[in-house]
Amino acid sequence: MALTIGVPRETLAGEKRVATVPEVVEKLIKLGFKVAVESGAGDAANCSDDSYRAVGADVIVGAPALWAASDIVFKVGVPTTEDVGHLREGGTLIGFIWPAQNPELMQQLAAKKATVLAIDSLPRMLSRAQKMDALTSQAGVAGYRAVIEAANAFGRFFNGQITAAGKVPPAKVFIAGAGVAGLAAIGTAASLGAIVRANDTRAEVADQVVSLGGEFVKVDYEEEGSGGGGYAKVMSEGFQQAQREMYAKQAREVDIIITTALIPGKPAPRLITAEMVQSMKPGSVIVDMAAERGGNCELTEPGQAVVKHGVTIVGYTDLTSRLAKQSSTLYASNLFRLTEELCKTKDGIIDVNMYDEAIRGLTVIKEGNITWPPPAPKLVAAPPAAKAAAAAPAQKKSGGHGKASEPASATSTAVTFGVAALVFWFVGANAPTAFLAHFTVFVLACFVGYMVVWNVTPALHTPLMSVTNAISSIIAIGALVQVGPEGWIRWLAVAGIALTAVNMFGGFAVTQRMLAMFRK
Ligand code: NAI
Repeated sequence: MALTIGVPRETLAGEKRVATVPEVVEKLIKLGFKVAVESGAGDAANCSDDSYRAVGADVIVGAPALWAASDIVFKVGVPTTEDVGHLREGGTLIGFIWPAQNPELMQQLAAKKATVLAIDSLPRMLSRAQKMDALTSQAGVAGYRAVIEAANAFGRFFNGQITAAGKVPPAKVFIAGAGVAGLAAIGTAASLGAIVRANDTRAEVADQVVSLGGEFVKVDYEEEGSGGGGYAKVMSEGFQQAQREMYAKQAREVDIIITTALIPGKPAPRLITAEMVQSMKPGSVIVDMAAERGGNCELTEPGQAVVKHGVTIVGYTDLTSRLAKQSSTLYASNLFRLTEELCKTKDGIIDVNMYDEAIRGLTVIKEGNITWPPPAPKLVAAPPAAKAAAAAPAQKKSGGHGKASEPASATSTAVTFGVAALVFWFVGANAPTAFLAHFTVFVLACFVGYMVVWNVTPALHTPLMSVTNAISSIIAIGALVQVGPEGWIRWLAVAGIALTAVNMFGGFAVTQRMLAMFRK
């Protein structure tokens, strides 16, 4: 029997988002589910009860009735004790949970024998998981909104203008932290015409900053900033000192600072001191996106916009809610993609498959058993810098040729080369000439293929494989040669061409789509 997905009205103060929107309700119904929405749930995100009814959802009045009618509940905000009280025994809950920060909530949900999928615990580095990545979609909205808040509090244009009344210089914006939110802020500020600079402790983001129209400002201190999994780590005191000096210089020069710096499981790093605020021009603006986690700026007051030393410091913690329609639509889309993964049979029934790495990662409670934290992911696409650092000791051991697990001494390398040379000499002396030509091409192809693939970042292996697939469809030529007048051989050749065509065009199409993800 088809399950009912329920969407309650969010209860946390100031939360304007809703977990699904009418456009997505239609898709959920096509997957075989029934959808029930609490009356008024979408009001603050411009989704009226009628708009939900129009696409086939039931609108139910009151939280207790809505929760009681739902087999699966979609939520945005972390559930309150009252929400847990409403949840059905053995029900399923999908939304933000933050299991590390909310152990009590986890116990309450487990006591309800619930199955809980925490969207915040999704293994984000899996490329397959990107469509479900609500942290990214929400951070993108927040980054955009941060620039809009800055523009609102700033008394000038962002772009430079030459008018009859005089020349207006462009605003200078400095973005601290170029993760998902920071990159969205860079793109937005640049598109408004500002001069944008950005800094991050992870050097690998420099190219992304530039591709979005910003300038990457380096800290004059050599230290690797990646703490694993694409996130940052706490930097050494020496680095922090050098970074403070650079930030102090930027504070004197720029008009707007947007800070987004976070380190998983740690308070937000303090990057903007009171003196830096004091050194800024009057009328400048700071938007501190890390306000909820203690703030990147010393003078931030979480949830407030305050003016200190003539500088407006915006510490709003509800930036995504301030674009409720947009953030709800993206969030609803993330949850829909997750539901598709849970319901491959399209019959309105979910299967929480713990052998699927993405589903395993975000399932924090399964039928009352706490399954968080999940085992470490098997494959993480390490950023190139981290990979190079990890490979360095291995190279030292192996003289630069072997893999980390196969340390090879200089003698064994020499012996291998010697044996290989003997084999080649033997083949060369005895094999027929025709074979020798093919054999040479084969050996060279192996060598070039190995060198190419070995030097490609693991994250790019999938596009590489798809394009190689397409190229390897040279087999089509063999099939073309066979399309003769003969009966069954001809049809075999035609079938061969058809299959190869799928491989060839499919390979190029997939590569094209994947590479497009890296372009703006
Ligand atoms: P976040 O919200 O934890 O941190 C924001 C940014 O602040 C990060 O870029 C971090 O390096 C930076 N930061 C931390 N301490 C700093 C300091 N002292 N000074 C300057 N900057 C500092 O991270 P977010 O935005 O959630 O994700 C970070 C990265 O994770 C992304 O940029 C991306 O590389 C990776 N990621 C990868 C995904 C994938 O492969 N599918 C999906 C999502 C994220």
